[in-house]
Amino acid sequence: MANIWLLSLLFLICILLAVFNHKKKHGQLPSPPGLPVIGILHQLGELPHQSLWKLSKKYGPVMHLKLGRVPTVIVSSAETARQVLKVHDLHCCTRPSLTGPRELSYNYLDIAFSPYDDYWKEVRKLCAQELFSTKQVHSIQPIKDEEVKKLIDSISESASQKTPVNLNKKCLSLTVSVVCRATFGVSFEGTVLNSDRFNQIVREALEMLGSFSASDFIPFVGWIIDWLSGLQSRRERSKRDLNLFYEQMFDLHKQGKKQGSEDFVDLLLRFEKEEVVLGNDKLTRNHIKAILMDVLLAGMDTSAITMTWAMTELARNPRVMRKVQNEIRTQMGEKAIISMDEIEQFHYLKMVIKETWRLHPTTPLLIPREVTSEIQIDGYTIPVKTRLHVNVWAIGRDPETWKDPEAFLPERFMDNNIDAKGQDFELLPFGGGRRICPAIYMGTTMVEFGLANLLYHFDWKLPDGMVVEDIDIEEAPGLTVNKKNDLVLVPTKYLDPCN
Ligand code: HEM
Repeated sequence: MANIWLLSLLFLICILLAVFNHKKKHGQLPSPPGLPVIGILHQLGELPHQSLWKLSKKYGPVMHLKLGRVPTVIVSSAETARQVLKVHDLHCCTRPSLTGPRELSYNYLDIAFSPYDDYWKEVRKLCAQELFSTKQVHSIQPIKDEEVKKLIDSISESASQKTPVNLNKKCLSLTVSVVCRATFGVSFEGTVLNSDRFNQIVREALEMLGSFSASDFIPFVGWIIDWLSGLQSRRERSKRDLNLFYEQMFDLHKQGKKQGSEDFVDLLLRFEKEEVVLGNDKLTRNHIKAILMDVLLAGMDTSAITMTWAMTELARNPRVMRKVQNEIRTQMGEKAIISMDEIEQFHYLKMVIKETWRLHPTTPLLIPREVTSEIQIDGYTIPVKTRLHVNVWAIGRDPETWKDPEAFLPERFMDNNIDAKGQDFELLPFGGGRRICPAIYMGTTMVEFGLANLLYHFDWKLPDGMVVEDIDIEEAPGLTVNKKNDLVLVPTKYLDPCN
């Protein structure tokens, strides 16, 4: 008899739990409380991915945010990312129309911010063929070799004088030179813009694109907030600077001052002249500027940021630095030039790069998406027109997935097949689904090649008076997130057998 009572009680508890769970899942999405009108916009701060990570610890991996009039959902776990980027990808792969980025893109839509439509499909296909394909990436290897050699020579000079090197700047100048020469056919040394100014323009544009702007969320009042906070005038300035840069580059192409045969800009200018239709639109000068903006902003910054964070973590972890240098130097043997084939053998270097992407994904919230048909994530209903962000930065720190998540331990990738190409939702440095970065191969090979050379040719020490604990990992705000304070290290030339 007692057993029957016990069983009935258990049965009742199970039913109550199921009802409670159903209510919870199908009820309101967990949502942090906010102020009237602006919601929690004021709480996001300069580094929204960090604020949202903290909130997700309290409110869970699917969280609704009140940001003015725009319903926004943040997902912060590998499983919820899988549901967004795989299960429901078709219904979440368009982009919201953001006033800020659209203004920067001359009101024409480029690849990264374009809705999921025929124009996006055709432009993405064109770029994939002309820029990102394995064949194209291999064809620019001589440019990479030349630019890496210039970098090594300039660092060697600092090494001989025992002066410190600013690695944020060195990494960016390498990727700027490679991408500009490969895409625009021009090198910026002594031509269009000097490199520091150019880097400033790129950084400012990325910061503007990453900023959560009040006018995107609140009509009229939001515009006043942006105006008062100075965001509006910064955006205008950024747009003017970029425009000037493009015009100078087009002039340079017209005057035939660029080097080499038909490059990507020539191709687009020819399409404009021939009135080629992409999607439903004839390609105009403004479309070209918008397309180039993707290549400029997405291409240069992301690879440089990854290299800078990798060097930062290696300087903070001398054991890992020694191990990866040993791997490269042992395998290189007598050779002084690193080829792409050799890089394939640097397994530990690849783990170092994955670990860097886990802790420092370049685009921590990916690029925002918009829901086009009602979907269910983790049992919660997400209505049409909701804006979606995947907090890749939080996923990389999730203790459910990663043991000792704050530690830089490349060995964690030894016993698993987790890769970074968008199929493993624990590690998403390139995003996933239909909007995945189209230049994974180009970006990865750039990072591997740059790092392998920096690590092969030089030993890196801290400047006098500095200890490992002094190296900070503070982040700078933006759509992409670089190290805020420059990484400054002192190089010593490695005496390889060929020297
Ligand atoms: C280490 C290097 C790179 C990283 C970590 C990276 C990362 C990303 C991420 C996270 C996204 C957003 C994906 C999403 O929303 O799901 C993206 C999109 C994009 N990336 Fe990359 N990227 C890299 C290199 C490049 C390069 C070299 C180029 C071009 C030269 C490039 C061009 C683009 C474009 C055009 C998009 C927009 C795709 C779309 O919305 O359809 N990326 N990238």
